[in-house]
Amino acid sequence: MANQDDKFKKVISHAKEYGYVFQSSEIYDGLSAVYDYAQNGVELKKNIRDYWWRAMVQMNDNIVGLDAAIFMHPTTWKASGHVDAFNDPLIDNKDSKKRYRADVLVEDYCLKIEAKIEKEVKKAQKRFGETFDKAEFISTNPRVLGYQEKIDSILSRLGKSLESEDLADVKSLIEELQIVDPLTGSKNWTDVKQFNLMFGTKLGASAESAMDLHLRPETAQGIFVNFLNVQKTGRMKLPFGIAQTGKAFRNEIVARQFIFRMREFEQMEMQFFIKPGTQGEWFKHWKDARMKWHLSLGLGNENYRFHDHEKLAHYADAATDIEFRFPFGFKELEGIHSRTDFDLKAHEEHSGKKLQYFDHAENKSYTPYVLETSIGLDRMFLAVFSNSFVEEELENNTTRTVLRLPAVLAPFKAAVLPLVKKDGLPEIAKQIVDDLKWDFNVAYDEKDAVGRRYRRQDANGTPFCITVDHDTLEDNAVTIRHRDTMEQKRVKIEDLREIIKKEVDVRSWLMKM
Ligand code: GAP
Repeated sequence: MANQDDKFKKVISHAKEYGYVFQSSEIYDGLSAVYDYAQNGVELKKNIRDYWWRAMVQMNDNIVGLDAAIFMHPTTWKASGHVDAFNDPLIDNKDSKKRYRADVLVEDYCLKIEAKIEKEVKKAQKRFGETFDKAEFISTNPRVLGYQEKIDSILSRLGKSLESEDLADVKSLIEELQIVDPLTGSKNWTDVKQFNLMFGTKLGASAESAMDLHLRPETAQGIFVNFLNVQKTGRMKLPFGIAQTGKAFRNEIVARQFIFRMREFEQMEMQFFIKPGTQGEWFKHWKDARMKWHLSLGLGNENYRFHDHEKLAHYADAATDIEFRFPFGFKELEGIHSRTDFDLKAHEEHSGKKLQYFDHAENKSYTPYVLETSIGLDRMFLAVFSNSFVEEELENNTTRTVLRLPAVLAPFKAAVLPLVKKDGLPEIAKQIVDDLKWDFNVAYDEKDAVGRRYRRQDANGTPFCITVDHDTLEDNAVTIRHRDTMEQKRVKIEDLREIIKKEVDVRSWLMKM
């Protein structure tokens, strides 16, 4: 755990040091859980967004894009259920005055029991050596079974209490388990209360006529309210999808873990409209397709897992999360939800407008069902960035920090470095930058010794360094160095474009899906 915390701290400081992510309004001591993307971060974020957009919109002829406004008519949020049900149960500690999510306190308690199971497994693994069968051990060892039973019973009670809004029982559970304030150890808790996560704002010039609005807590509703407009004007036939990327806002009670849980963040969502009754097969389809998209980036298959929901949101008949192994453990990265006809029916009811699809083959109208894929762009950024951050021991007993970003996502694809700042080398290097920049984002760097420049580009995730030296004046060739292998090769300047393209081209990455 200490190691993981350590790594996470390094990831956060690397993100700042290399111009990826800054605390918002830092000169005023920052704003909690709000972040700015700096010169490199904005490129990485854009490349992730593009990689998603290409896979979802460009590669599927039945999915189209949308960019709906952040402000929406207030009834939208009544219809969607967010006004009444978009709540988190919060609890305050009277001594520390700190606020927590009551359900998270209980879940963290269960994680501690899970850690005890892991400890037992490790001990047994050591004792039995190669003959150790983990699955058999977990299903038969009385101590492990006892721990598991305890976790199941706690989570089942928590689920039931939340479902029935029995907040007094959530508090009783916290007291019975003797859960303490993680910061101070105090058990002096207030009652549990519901807290709506939407931010409010006002539209209009005068206080009397101003209309209360909410900043959207998800991009999805912009898609639902435009469903019929897009279907009609695009002459779309079921099944078809509408995809959108954009900002969403949630007044999270406990916003921590850097850009994992933010108050202002970006989502990449797709609503896939289908014939009722086919949701089972489409749920499976989108689970597979989205997992393939993740795996195509090569962050390690062992770092992903599905987590099927037992407790479903008010709108869903099936749901799963794609979880990723962040530096602080496996956590939700993307949600795939079978949302039935809940949203379209609710908007129909609240707006009085028909939101149905006329099926020519069946000669009848009906409300489509919806399959949703929803991923946080910032969370994806954190997954990519933290997974790519490596401190490597080299053969000569030195270490190097390298950001092994998937080349397709790297902010800069290459850096061009004149060996020295004279003898006409900078001019050739700048000419190479001018040629390559038509196709790729390319950096020019002439400061410091070339070894230091290599390290700087490694730490920045640049897949290639191109060095112009005195031989270049004679042979029109340069040295190209690969970030991950550190291998260097002499190549003709005219071949650079093809060499880089082979590694960074979206096509070859998406073909791995
Ligand atoms: N339209 C469905 C929806 O919004 P969600 O599970 O609440 O579902 C979807 O959110 C995704 O948005 C999550 O899987 C996560 O990646 C991202 N997300 C949600 N809340 C977030 C937050 N406070 N900060 C950063 N990302 C968040």
